[in-house]
Amino acid sequence: MGEKMRLDKYLSNMGKGSRSELRVIMKRGVVTVNGKIVKDGAVKVDIIKDSVAFEGIEVPYIPFVYLMLNKPQGVISATEDAKLPVVIDLVPEPFRHYDVFPVGRLDIDTEGLLLLTNDGALAHRLLSPKHHVPKQYFAKLASPTAPEAIKAFEAGITLEDGYVCMPAMLQTTSTPDEVLLTIYEGKFHQVKRMFEALGNKVIYLKRMRMGGLQLDESLKLGEMRLLTAEELELIENGEAQ
Ligand code: URA
Repeated sequence: MGEKMRLDKYLSNMGKGSRSELRVIMKRGVVTVNGKIVKDGAVKVDIIKDSVAFEGIEVPYIPFVYLMLNKPQGVISATEDAKLPVVIDLVPEPFRHYDVFPVGRLDIDTEGLLLLTNDGALAHRLLSPKHHVPKQYFAKLASPTAPEAIKAFEAGITLEDGYVCMPAMLQTTSTPDEVLLTIYEGKFHQVKRMFEALGNKVIYLKRMRMGGLQLDESLKLGEMRLLTAEELELIENGEAQ
């Protein structure tokens, strides 16, 4: 048995209209519960056991959604802003009725993996400083990385305000001014400030991973899709690797 809920609330939560719109719509006899027409929105349904259909199409109760966005530059990681475009503007129509929010923040000029969800508990677990969820970034730098940088990141970089970062993992690539950096915390502008502390500068930043979740590079910038069941499992169980 699942939770019991008023039918109008159920349908409204699933994006079928406001409760007052549904009062009118339901009078047309387009809503069925277990195959029988129900015109009264106050009827209680079991969100797991009962089968609710709207205009002949089954409407399962899906309380949470998990969307992976390949964030483009120029949009901010917020739900609303007076001036600038926000990541919520990119949410496609079928998911617009869910109150999703970004799990953490990427700077306006940072691209890459951003999870959007309405699951506050998951977001809290991923963002909680005590969980040390790893985040991997690809960075292009103004100058090539010095070989000592790997050790400096491992030892803990001291930022300009005196904060000593947790050990981080720097991986070099075949291009001297392109690196992968994994950090286990999320201070404001952290990656940029870490490189600045070493006298370098990040000129392009893209998040590649968060916990067990990897950016799907087939997503174009600005595109998002639902997480697969496997990805959801990875982000739920693999966050504190
Ligand atoms: N570190 C930064 O400096 N910027 C981001 O957007 C993410 C991590």
